[in-house]
Formats: sequence, structure tokens, C-alpha cells
Amino acid sequence: MKKNKISKNWINKQKRDIYVRQSKVEGYRSRAVYKLKEIDEKFNILENGISLIDLGAAPGSWSQYVLKKIKNGKILSIDLNKIDKIGNIFQIKGDFTVPKYQNEIKDYFGSKIDVVLSDMAVNTTGNKYLDSIYTGELCMEAMNFCKEMLNEDGKFVSKLFMGSMFNEIVAEAKKIFKESKVFKPAASRKNSKESFIICKFLQ
Ligand SMILES: C[S@@+](CC[C@H](N)C(=O)[O-])C[C@H]1O[C@@H](n2cnc3c(N)ncnc32)[C@H](O)[C@@H]1O
Repeated sequence: MKKNKISKNWINKQKRDIYVRQSKVEGYRSRAVYKLKEIDEKFNILENGISLIDLGAAPGSWSQYVLKKIKNGKILSIDLNKIDKIGNIFQIKGDFTVPKYQNEIKDYFGSKIDVVLSDMAVNTTGNKYLDSIYTGELCMEAMNFCKEMLNEDGKFVSKLFMGSMFNEIVAEAKKIFKESKVFKPAASRKNSKESFIICKFLQ
């Protein structure tokens, strides 16, 4: 299929998508917010007073939702791309996998935190196999960061793809956390291999 035909199809699909329309009405920057909302409602992730990191936060709908949901929280968002300001959230433009930025996150909180969210995904290469590996590696990096950053009863939510690294990620989650579940929210497109892993309580 030609490139302009693919983008026309994408635009038409976006116009028909109820989550895209709903996000515009509710003032969210992305339809991705409804994935987090469903995860939060099902697994009770967010509560007042918590400290939280949003990894891969641009354009910012997850952070918008978190800010609305949490009162008196301490929130940090990071992305390779610039995130337009959202309330009093501390924002970093940088690569989360680089130690310098991980140290900046640790310095900002100065102690263990309650929740790590990751919706990080690499830009698609066109090769679904490679995409799922690269995004799987980001999920692993975030999960390892949780070992240093989370309180004992901390929670971790991350995007992952059904694919080559899936079993490895699920096995690692079982080693690190007492509880872990894989869940695909209704807002995650049916034809996508995207899913989420929800983990609680460090081992
Ligand atoms: C699906 S989008 C996130 C959407 C976001 N949750 C929202 O609600 O607006 C995935 C994001 O992951 C970011 N990302 C990918 N690799 C990253 C990395 N190594 N460090 C930080 N962000 C990364 C991308 O730049 C992209 O903005």
C-alpha cells in the first residue's frame, strides 16, 4: 500500500475511533488515557498523597489523568520528546535508559516512591518483531528501576507487546513482585499486540 493511502486510512480510523473523540471532548492529549483509566479502575493504582513516575509520558494524557486523580501527590514525567507543561508535574526531556536521567529522578524524589508507570514505546521501525523486542527492553529497564525506586508495597504498570520478550518479562515480574497480571484494556486496539503488565508488592 502506498504511504499516502496508509496515512489516509489512519486518519479515517482516528475519526471513527470513539476514544479519540472522547479524549477531545474531555480535554486529554491522547486516547491512551482510557487505557490507564481502565487499569486504575480495575487494579486500584492511584490514590491521594502518592509519589509517582510517568515514563514515556508525551504527549501527556496519562500525566493529565494522574494529576486529576491524585491530591497532594509528587509526580515526575519523562520522555524523549518535550511534554507541554501539566500543572506542577516535574518534567524531564531525556532518555530514561541513560544513567544521568535515572540519577536525576532519584535525586528529585530523594526516597522510595509508590508507583512507576511506563507507556514507553519505541518509534515503529516497520518491523513488528523488532518493535516488540525494543519496547520489551524498555519494559525490562523500567522493571529493574522499580527494584531501586519502589516502596515494598509499590506498584508498577507497563506497556508490553505479545511477542518474543513476553515470556521473559512475565517471568522477571514474578521474581521481582509478589503479584503480577497481564491485562489488555478495551481502549487498546484489538489488532495491536499491545498489552499491559500490572505488578504489586516487591518480593
Ligand atoms: C505511546 S507514547 C506515550 C503516550 C502517553 N502515555 C500519553 O498518555 O500521552 C510512548 C512514548 O514513549 C517515549 N519513549 C520511548 N522511548 C523512551 C525512552 N528511552 N525514554 C523516555 N521516553 C521514551 C516516546 O517518545 C513516546 O512519547
